[in-house]
Amino acid sequence: MAVKKILTYGDETLRQPSKEVHKVSKKVLDLIHDLLDTMYAKNGVGLAAPQIGVHLRVFVIDVSTNDEPLNPMVFINPKIIKKEGAVVSHEGCLSFPEAYTDVRRYRDVMVKAIDRKGRAFVLEAKDGSLLARAIQHEFDHLDGVLFIDHVRNRFEADKILQENNLPPVDESRLIEESELEELIKEDTQE
Ligand code: NI
Repeated sequence: MAVKKILTYGDETLRQPSKEVHKVSKKVLDLIHDLLDTMYAKNGVGLAAPQIGVHLRVFVIDVSTNDEPLNPMVFINPKIIKKEGAVVSHEGCLSFPEAYTDVRRYRDVMVKAIDRKGRAFVLEAKDGSLLARAIQHEFDHLDGVLFIDHVRNRFEADKILQENNLPPVDESRLIEESELEELIKEDTQE
């Protein structure tokens, strides 16, 4: 397969919602290979189909570290069926080269999806793990939502975006997350 060009923040294509996959066809398997090849080529933890301009509900994640064997995980038509708790997540995105900032995420998630063999599976990721946060980040891409929409400090984020020649935070897209913010504050007070 091939390493594809990753769309960069500012490209409105990233904001378009993706459609469900009806069959794990050759075309979908090719897409999965492209996503994995591109993610590994860029040393990413995850990559979603819309980031390479394909609006299908597919993303890949690999949270293995350098001294571990590769562990590619494929999620087709994912649904987050449970979410609980809150954490601060210091995130970046392959569509935002070099820009990292703190966002709010759920601490635990349970996701239901289909794998590349067309089999349904359920996966639980807890404790604000990299996997738990990556699932939420990649899932968002399928709805045209970007990590920056969850930002905790938009002024700091704007500064980081500007330093990396990226467009500013889009105020109209910021997600109101007062409950998550309250949980985060309760946790840090103890
Ligand atoms: Ni991303």
